Amino acid sequence: MTQTHTYQHDYQQSITQPEIFWAEQAGKLAWHTQPTNIVSQDEDGQHQWFADGKLNTAWLALDAHVQAGRGSQTAIIYDSPVTGCKQQITYDGLTAKVARCAGMLKELGVGKGDRVVIYMPMIPEAVIAMLGCARLGAVHCVVFGGFAPHELAVRIDDAKADILLTASCGIETDRLIDYKPLVDAAINEAAHPVRHCVVFQRPQCPSTLQPGRDIDWKQAMDCAHPVDAVPVNSTDPLYVLYTSGTTGKPKGVVRDHGGHAVALRYSMQAVYGAQTGDVFWAASDVGWVVGHSYIVYGPLLAGCTTVLYEGKPVRTPDAGSFWRVCEEYGVKTLFAAPTAFRAIRKEDPDAELARQYDLSRLERLFLAGERLDPPTWDWLQAHFGIPVIDHWWQTETGWAIAANPAGYEIQEAKPGSATWPMPGYQLEILDDEGLALESGTQGNICLKLPLPPGCLTGIWGNPERYRAGYLEKFPGYYQSGDAGYIDRDGYVFVMGRTDDIINVAGHRLSTGEMEEVVGSHSAVAECAVIGVADEIKGELPLGLVVLKNGVDISEQELSAELRTLIRLDIGALACFQGALIVPRLPKTRSGKILRRLMRQMANGEAYSIPSTIDDPGCLEELAAKLTGGRLAAAS
Ligand code: COA
Ligand code: AMP
Repeated sequence: MTQTHTYQHDYQQSITQPEIFWAEQAGKLAWHTQPTNIVSQDEDGQHQWFADGKLNTAWLALDAHVQAGRGSQTAIIYDSPVTGCKQQITYDGLTAKVARCAGMLKELGVGKGDRVVIYMPMIPEAVIAMLGCARLGAVHCVVFGGFAPHELAVRIDDAKADILLTASCGIETDRLIDYKPLVDAAINEAAHPVRHCVVFQRPQCPSTLQPGRDIDWKQAMDCAHPVDAVPVNSTDPLYVLYTSGTTGKPKGVVRDHGGHAVALRYSMQAVYGAQTGDVFWAASDVGWVVGHSYIVYGPLLAGCTTVLYEGKPVRTPDAGSFWRVCEEYGVKTLFAAPTAFRAIRKEDPDAELARQYDLSRLERLFLAGERLDPPTWDWLQAHFGIPVIDHWWQTETGWAIAANPAGYEIQEAKPGSATWPMPGYQLEILDDEGLALESGTQGNICLKLPLPPGCLTGIWGNPERYRAGYLEKFPGYYQSGDAGYIDRDGYVFVMGRTDDIINVAGHRLSTGEMEEVVGSHSAVAECAVIGVADEIKGELPLGLVVLKNGVDISEQELSAELRTLIRLDIGALACFQGALIVPRLPKTRSGKILRRLMRQMANGEAYSIPSTIDDPGCLEELAAKLTGGRLAAAS
């Protein structure tokens, strides 16, 4: 079913009469208690959606479909080229497993509002764990499996989670990642005690369990009594998802039940044009927001069949694997990061592998996680002949801020643009002083408050960080942290971050956090980490280091040690390239390191030297080093 109104109608109404617009969307869900208070402000002045409504998101995603007679429809298709396993779970089957998982958690003492950390690979149990928490009104905190123990420990502490759900291993192409030693290390490092660690034993690498603390998932599920969904307040937290900020401490983005369910249900129709029964595949990971929103909650709320793919776009076994999955299950909508398609294009430049599959049921490609670069857009457009839709969003927003609205009418695309703002999002481009800029002029992309339903309701346990990081600089607006412009036709162009966040293979990482790790090396007096352009992964982190006086270490040696440090502290996913040793870092007279300038130099982009620079004499040598030195650091 497409939307009954035009995009223009709905966009206008969402801005001028948000109560009417979102009340209509909320009315499409089976609430436990229908909300009458659509948008209000809490005691701190923060906007909240549907404050007097009650619901349970897991019930809406599962039981509601069973009650509507769709219990025999497939809810999850699990396809795992790394294990050779394929499995389909119906809505009936998934509801039963989730009810049992909720029962297992309840028997472990988990109740409404308690936090549960989930550290799992892409297996159905990860989805069951998330929905099991939601069914009880507990708050899940999923941590991406590629993060190192320290990162897991930081999240356990911040969430104060008593229970951790994990699996015995993950599989990276053909390499087993033994999770248990990582989990044990994290539990040991965390200050907050983890009472129980429930382990799903995988046959590829079973773990030894610690008596008393560790519990076998299968045994516990077998003994558990299914429990019914617990109705919660619309404003109660459904999950906390940690994302990189500008410091070493990740931010726990809090998502509510009500706004989230309404926004995701709406977005499935409006943004993706998805209908009940469609096969919808977001080729991401449940550890990221895309996985939360469009592997788990969005498709299930909309009664679609979601694909859970445990593999890579290449090497599992080849660059045709995405297309194999699309053919095999009749995928209608495929959503992936541009980096995935760049990896496929590199191995299959003429899309010969793609032509071996019947892709007639594939109607649209959606891309997000980073800007869709025009060459990748051209390649997809040329070889697949279906709409290729770039859409812009963030962990914080949970759904697209700007997109080409497939559920209304697909607009002519402009390469490099995420098209139009979605209903509910009022975008303005502001200069650093907060003045609105004309169309075509680049500045800070800001979203006028209130944010629509589904966006973050705060930072877990840290309201001040939310206020200071997002709301303070431009009063009345949410500061997205992205720079860009809106052209005369209203098309939104997102050009890059204004802060220290970089995007490595679709993974959001903080260079500030990496600087803390690099700075902890005994040879390092001062450092900066910048993102340098990479053909496949978009950006890769590179360090610039000033050595302490009297230290004698080669660039190769230091780079190797720093790569290991970052792997151990943050995780392999950071893909840290190494470090260039420089005599000094370029700074302003007030001491601010000119990271942007270094990034432009490293990427061979045009740059202008700020008038506030302290020592312009250092630039010539630095430019030579940056353009010549990247390969040396990575070797
Ligand atoms: N568990 C453990 N380790 C992991 C991991 C996980 N879940 N995910 C990644 N890693 C490790 C990899 O094994 C690799 O380690 P290595 O350096 O020892 O080989 C490192 O982290 C980098 O991984 P990755 O970025 O995946 O690089 P790759 O070369 O294996 O694959 C791509 C490159 C482009 C194919 C891959 O990054 C990709 O598919 N990206 C899309 C990401 C995505 O979907 N993002 C979500 C936003 S929509
Ligand atoms: P994450 O929170 O991991 O989803 O990363 C969000 C960031 O990724 C955004 O703030 C942008 O910088 C970037 N991003 C995501 N999607 C797009 C897009 N379609 N175009 C440009 N940048 C994007």
